[in-house]
Amino acid sequence: MDYAQFLRRVPKVELHCHLEGTVRAATFAELAGKHRIPLPTSEVDSLYDYDTIEAFLEIFGLVASTLIDEEDFERVAFESLEDGQRLGNLKYREMFFNPTLHTRRGVPYRTVVDGLVAGIRRADRELGVGCRLIADVYRQDSPEVALAMVEEVLAHRPDEVIGLGMDGAEAPDPPERFAAAFARAKAGGLRLTSHACEDAPPKNIVTCLDVLGCERIDHGYHILADQAVVQRALDAGLYFTCCPTATARVYGWPDLSRHPIGGMVAAGLNVTLNSDDPTMFHTDIGREFVDLCTALEYGPEQVRSFCLNSVDGSWLDEGDKSRLRREMAAEFDALHAELGA
Ligand code: HPA
Ligand code: ZN
Repeated sequence: MDYAQFLRRVPKVELHCHLEGTVRAATFAELAGKHRIPLPTSEVDSLYDYDTIEAFLEIFGLVASTLIDEEDFERVAFESLEDGQRLGNLKYREMFFNPTLHTRRGVPYRTVVDGLVAGIRRADRELGVGCRLIADVYRQDSPEVALAMVEEVLAHRPDEVIGLGMDGAEAPDPPERFAAAFARAKAGGLRLTSHACEDAPPKNIVTCLDVLGCERIDHGYHILADQAVVQRALDAGLYFTCCPTATARVYGWPDLSRHPIGGMVAAGLNVTLNSDDPTMFHTDIGREFVDLCTALEYGPEQVRSFCLNSVDGSWLDEGDKSRLRREMAAEFDALHAELGA
C-alpha cells in the first residue's frame, strides 16, 4: 500500500456534501431521458465544468430538475453513499439537500424526503453506511420562502432529518436575512449550520454564530483575515467543514498547497475534509484526502485528526459517536501499521 492508497482507505465521516452535487453523470443523463428534460449536450460529463459559483449553481439546478419521482431520490441517495464507500471508505455522512430547488418545480416535499430516506435506509442495510439529512436554505430564496420551507421540514420529519443549513451564493445574500428561518428551526429541535466566509468576510461567521445560532461553519476560509474571530472559534472548539477541490475551482485556489485550509490547520482550528459536490467537481471523498494531504505534505497524525475530527464534529448521539470513534480509530491504526510494515 502506498501513501495515496492509505489516504483513500482510511475510514471517513463527511459533514459537507450536497445530495444534488453527488449525482453521477450517467444517472443525470438517464433521469433527464426518463423525464424528457432537454440538456444542452449529450456529453453530460462536460456540463460538470465551471469556474464561478454562479455557473456551478446553474448546473446544480439542472441536475436537481431531473429528480422528480420518489424512486429518483431513492436512487441518487443510495448511489451517492455507495460511491462514498467505494471511493473513500465512507462510514457516515450528514448530507445537505435543497428542498426548495424541488418544491418550486412542483415536486412535493414528502416525495423528496421519503425518497431520500428510503435510499439512506437501503444503504444502511446493504452497505452499512450511515447517513442523516440537513435541509438547506437556498440563499437566493426570499426569507419568507425559507421560513415556509422550515415549517414544511418540521411538519414531516423522519428521524434521518436532523438539521438546517444554508447554501447558494454567499456574497450577494448575507446570513442575517434568514434569522427567522433559523430561529424557527432551532425552536423545532433541528441542529444548525451554515455555509459562511467562503466568499465573504469573517463577519459572516460571527453573524452565523450570534444571529442564526449555528453550531458548525461550512467552509470558513477567510477567517484568517480576523484574528479575533479565529480566537473565538478556537475558544468555542468550533468545527469547520472544508472542501478542497470545489473551492480550488470556483474560488480560485487552484494550488492546494496554498489553499487557506493549510493556514486554518496551522492556526489550530478544528478542520474536517469533505467533498462538497463530488461528481459535479470530478472528485470524491477519497480523492479529497489524497490531493489535500499530498499537497500539504500531511503525515498520518494529521490525517488521523481529520478522520476523527469529523466524528467529533458530527451530530450523532453521544453513544453512537463514541462507538464510531472507537471503530474508526482502530481501523485507522491497523491501516497505519500496514503502511509502516
Ligand atoms: N457553496 C454554495 N452553494 C452550494 C455549494 C457550496 O459549496 N454546494 C452546493 N451549493
Ligand atoms: Zn457546500
